[in-house]
Amino acid sequence: MRGLLIRHKDVCKMDLFDKRFLFVIGKGGVGKTTVAASLGLAAAKRGKRTLIAMTNVKERLSRKLGSAPIGDDIVSIRENLDAVNMTPEKALEEYGMMILKIRALYETLFENRYAKAFIRGTPGIDAWSMLGKAYFHAVGHGKDGIGDYDLVILDTPATGHGLDMIRMPMVITAIAPSGLLSREASRALELFRDPQRGGAVVVTLPEDMPTNETLELQTALRDELRIPIQSVVVNQTLKPLFGSEIREEIQSFPAKLDASSPLATLGRAGRVRSMREAVQAESLERLKAGTTAPMLRLPRLFTPDIGPAQIEALSHAFQ
Ligand SMILES: Nc1ncnc2c1ncn2[C@@H]1O[C@H](COP(=O)(O)OP(=O)(O)OP(=O)(O)O)[C@@H](O)[C@H]1O
Ligand SMILES: [Mg+2]
Repeated sequence: MRGLLIRHKDVCKMDLFDKRFLFVIGKGGVGKTTVAASLGLAAAKRGKRTLIAMTNVKERLSRKLGSAPIGDDIVSIRENLDAVNMTPEKALEEYGMMILKIRALYETLFENRYAKAFIRGTPGIDAWSMLGKAYFHAVGHGKDGIGDYDLVILDTPATGHGLDMIRMPMVITAIAPSGLLSREASRALELFRDPQRGGAVVVTLPEDMPTNETLELQTALRDELRIPIQSVVVNQTLKPLFGSEIREEIQSFPAKLDASSPLATLGRAGRVRSMREAVQAESLERLKAGTTAPMLRLPRLFTPDIGPAQIEALSHAFQ
């Protein structure tokens, strides 16, 4: 069993660093940004030129990485690691330039007052411009398919919005007439769906509701979007203190203690902890049963904040 787990981990680690584009996706608050930061740091240390791209969010990555605030211009965090918090306006301009290549043509198309109003009013264009820009950083502008980065990690918006964003190239290829936009969208989709180069890192917590949502999210990625799941990261896992054989005894402990006993608080704490461990064990079983991708666990850290030292510690799980 132990051997099997280690093999799983090794496969996961090796494979993730070979990729060009990874969506880090999951329910709100499960640790997507923390995972993007740890994975990005691990990749950079391996010598991969890595970009962590956020999608117009209240930016909390700089605090985790100990850098200056990250805006819509790419900033360097450390050797081989850059980050950006894209905005739709700037991404649209950059993406427009990346596909059109000629500024005059860009200005005619994108800066024209009517065209601008039309483009900005097109549903989904904000999401696509940011995704398109991130994609271009992975593949570059030329035919050689070499981008500015070896690996682009997209800190994807929480589940629903994240899936909508990934759906955009599918929508474009389905409805846009053949031409530049549809060609680029279809190329991007090819990259995202290629198990050798693209895919998703699904982040979750070892709890009941996040597990349900993660299983649904995996179904949507697999069956509807056909995005390969490269890894499932179970964040904030507890190191079990109580084996399942003594769980019942620990849980009945507080009832056996006199409420005034100094041990009563300890008894209650033990009970709560053991209940959480039981939920975690059950969630991990359900996740394992519903997941074919390698699973990786990140420990729950008991610190007031997640800063550079904690990201460094978590990054070892990926190395
Ligand atoms: N392994 C961990 N141990 C302890 N705390 C953690 C861990 N991972 C994340 N956290 C904390 O949990 C909170 C949520 O993490 P994070 O911001 O990475 O989640 P997110 O999925 O990016 O959230 P959002 O959906 O709001 O973007 C943060 O306060 C973070 O510091
Ligand atoms: Mg986040």
